[in-house]
Amino acid sequence: MTRLAGKSALITGAARGIGRAFAEAYIREGASVALADIDIARARRSAEDLGEHALAVDMDVTDQESIDRAVAEVIDAFGQIDILINNAAIFSAAPIVEIERRNYQRVFDINVAGTLFTMQAVARHMIERGGGGKIINMASQAGRRGEPLVAVYCATKAAIISLTQSAGLDLIRHGINVNAIAPGVVDGEHWDGVDALFAKYEGKAPGQKKKEVGEAVPYGRMGRADDLTGMAVFLATDEADYIVAQCYNVDGGQWMS
Ligand SMILES: NC(=O)c1ccc[n+]([C@@H]2O[C@H](COP(=O)([O-])OP(=O)(O)OC[C@H]3O[C@@H](n4cnc5c(N)ncnc54)[C@H](O)[C@@H]3O)[C@@H](O)[C@H]2O)c1
Repeated sequence: MTRLAGKSALITGAARGIGRAFAEAYIREGASVALADIDIARARRSAEDLGEHALAVDMDVTDQESIDRAVAEVIDAFGQIDILINNAAIFSAAPIVEIERRNYQRVFDINVAGTLFTMQAVARHMIERGGGGKIINMASQAGRRGEPLVAVYCATKAAIISLTQSAGLDLIRHGINVNAIAPGVVDGEHWDGVDALFAKYEGKAPGQKKKEVGEAVPYGRMGRADDLTGMAVFLATDEADYIVAQCYNVDGGQWMS
């Protein structure tokens, strides 16, 4: 299938994990994809694996100059950006009484400001070019409700849902659809780190938290990056033109609103 033939996409945090799976799916559907990441060595390796329609781009979403440079580089390479996925994010966990301001700032800078200002830079380009576009922000089940050890990350993902609503309502008059995906628990390197943090704070054996969260998913297992690609492709197609400012759970049945 080539539902994204002729389209070009910028995906942040695409060196590995879910972002890389999105890049692979988009290329399979006929798009050219920029894999933007602060880990440029890994982004280059992933782009090489994905072939000639993949481009590795050095990008730190906390740095405005880096955002502007990366967006310009992708426009230069592909001529335009039709689709943006704001996927770069970091996780953090600590009890409320141990949260450090520096860590709070870093997580908000990457997860929230990074999403907002990358969205802004790409939206400016889409408006100037005309013809609309699609923006997909990565939220999380963690943005639907708080968790005892995950206050900061949960707050950033709630902010992503809110930003998606505001930007979605603001940008649709330019034909730009802004929507979000809220995954549940998706296995991979991200969750290796989560598992290690729960091992530390809840005294669990390594791998125990993953086992527990997987068993709690109504579908019967943790998600895989590939479980999310169908929604990411759909939201980038013309079939999603009438979908505005929404956040979709793709979580094996964990959350229902
Ligand atoms: N894995 C899950 O269970 C899960 C669940 C819900 C939501 N999500 C969200 O999905 C998205 C992808 O998650 P993942 O599991 O693939 O994570 P991951 O940690 O495997 O990948 C994140 C990528 O972002 C990059 N990155 C970090 N800081 C950056 C910066 N300043 N600038 C540019 N790139 C930067 C990293 O180098 C990495 O390649 C994230 O937004 C995450 O919050 C993941």
